[in-house]
Amino acid sequence: MTAGLAGKRCVVTGAASGIGRALAEQLAAAGARVVLADIDLAKAEEVAGELEGAVALHCDVADHASVKALAASAKARLGGIDLVFANAGTIINGPLIKATPEEFDWLMGVNLRGAWSSLIVFARLMLDQKEGGRICVTASEHSLGLQHAGAGIYTASKQAVLALAEVLRAELPPMVGISVFCPGLVATGLADARRPDHLSQPTERQRSLSRAVQSRGMSAEEAATAALAGTLRDDFLIVTHPNSFAAAQRRFAEIKAAFSAQAPIGESADRYDVNRIVAEVLAKPGDA
Ligand SMILES: NC(=O)c1ccc[n+]([C@@H]2O[C@H](COP(=O)([O-])OP(=O)(O)OC[C@H]3O[C@@H](n4cnc5c(N)ncnc54)[C@H](O)[C@@H]3O)[C@@H](O)[C@H]2O)c1
Repeated sequence: MTAGLAGKRCVVTGAASGIGRALAEQLAAAGARVVLADIDLAKAEEVAGELEGAVALHCDVADHASVKALAASAKARLGGIDLVFANAGTIINGPLIKATPEEFDWLMGVNLRGAWSSLIVFARLMLDQKEGGRICVTASEHSLGLQHAGAGIYTASKQAVLALAEVLRAELPPMVGISVFCPGLVATGLADARRPDHLSQPTERQRSLSRAVQSRGMSAEEAATAALAGTLRDDFLIVTHPNSFAAAQRRFAEIKAAFSAQAPIGESADRYDVNRIVAEVLAKPGDA
């Protein structure tokens, strides 16, 4: 399954813990050269220290300059980059109606802007190096339609990550492949995700409830194995938890019912198709 990874040049963000750590371990075990990037450099160094051919670098994915610096350092150390796992992410639990603008900005900064920065910075690098490469961004089952009360901003961030990946896939030439990893519950350190000091901190009771839920998830190793296998197969969507499918079906059924009732497909169904209209306008710019 991991054949062909020997000597591959890889970057994993959020590699100090959970799924990212398991990915880094499996890549290194398969003979790849791995840069473990994390906001928690000390922990990333500890993990990298146990792996063959691995090095840890600091990166805050919410900071575009930090992602660019990571890409430049990783390229300088490895001589190029074949595979990237844009995996760093965090969570805030709590009812949407009680969330603050500061919480919104922080969570979106890490999960959405971080995914955007990682995708475009490494995609540009792969285009420039001419050999291409593949980027797997970690989204979630939330991207597919699953919602659970108490993680509204997280859900929104992960749906937007899927949207970014879909558009990027359409824009990029095939030499740069995009995968979106959409796992369900995985037993990781997510329940203990650190929040900046300017945000309110969860109570011990909230933490222990989150830990109790998180610990019942799939193992990080199993999730990482699925992410790695899907990426090596060039799959776009990588899924792991069969229960996520019901949520995707519910969403599709709701969309289908809305169209049947309000905008049924008829003869001139593509009259306002924006992509066709854009293509026509671009083909005849003089008419604009
Ligand atoms: N655990 C789950 O149930 C689950 C389910 C679906 C998706 N995910 C996603 O999987 C990814 C990995 O999370 P995990 O569950 O392994 O959690 P985790 O907390 O164990 O690991 C996340 C890692 O990301 C790092 N990180 C956080 N903010 C960062 C930043 N700004 N810049 C760089 N690194 C940062 C953390 O230090 C940590 O090492 C996340 O994107 C998460 O949203 C997790």
